[in-house]
Amino acid sequence: MPDLDTSLHLDMLHDYERQNGLLNRFRRAVREMVSPRAFYGLQWGDPETSGPQVYMRDKYILPYVKPDQVGLEIGPGGGRWTRYLLGFKHLYVVDYHAELLSELRRQCNQVNMQFIVNHGSDFPGVPANSVDYIVSIACFVHLEPYLIESYLSNMHSVLKTGGNVVLTYSDKTKVGGQLNSTFSQNSPERMRNMVKAAGFHIVEEDLTVLWNSGIIRFIR
Ligand SMILES: C[S@@+](CC[C@H](N)C(=O)[O-])C[C@H]1O[C@@H](n2cnc3c(N)ncnc32)[C@H](O)[C@@H]1O
Repeated sequence: MPDLDTSLHLDMLHDYERQNGLLNRFRRAVREMVSPRAFYGLQWGDPETSGPQVYMRDKYILPYVKPDQVGLEIGPGGGRWTRYLLGFKHLYVVDYHAELLSELRRQCNQVNMQFIVNHGSDFPGVPANSVDYIVSIACFVHLEPYLIESYLSNMHSVLKTGGNVVLTYSDKTKVGGQLNSTFSQNSPERMRNMVKAAGFHIVEEDLTVLWNSGIIRFIR
């Protein structure tokens, strides 16, 4: 713990001044102009650089990606998380909006990927008992409980016994969840009840890393 004579705070100010000098700002502007367009979705936190998202990537995604297994992502958006899932033998990317899958294709389009437009909570063309891992981040936060229940039931069908599911969902008990009017009426208790009622076993939850949502991992 630094004492009163620490140089910590002046060092931080001087770092900031160095990084924001004219030359460095000019370099950043040039880099921005010549670099490829950023992923749609990085505005919600870049899993390469933003603390909570780095943590989520390392704890809930990377350990589950196996070259002999099948993954499925719901609501991939621009591919913020999809890029870490490409190591699956087969990866289903399921979205309600074809436009979002087109955006995803601009960033990630590998032969092991299968793009599926669904009807809101189903998995058209995905065989029963065939998926090892399902993930959905920043999608269920917007889904009303009746859609979440429908999804959970359909996940139970396509997931193998012992397969993992990782979801983030709206937590209206948190200030961040209350402030976001696009977030659905959900809470850790309600989510737990829905997951258990669908026949899953809850393995772990994180109620702290995200300020407006919860994270839950469960198995079939
Ligand atoms: C806020 S974006 C999040 C995208 C990405 N998962 C991320 O974290 O950057 C929500 C995504 O969920 C998709 N979506 C919305 N409702 C859906 C539904 N009922 N089923 C599947 N995808 C849905 C949207 O089209 C979009 O791709």
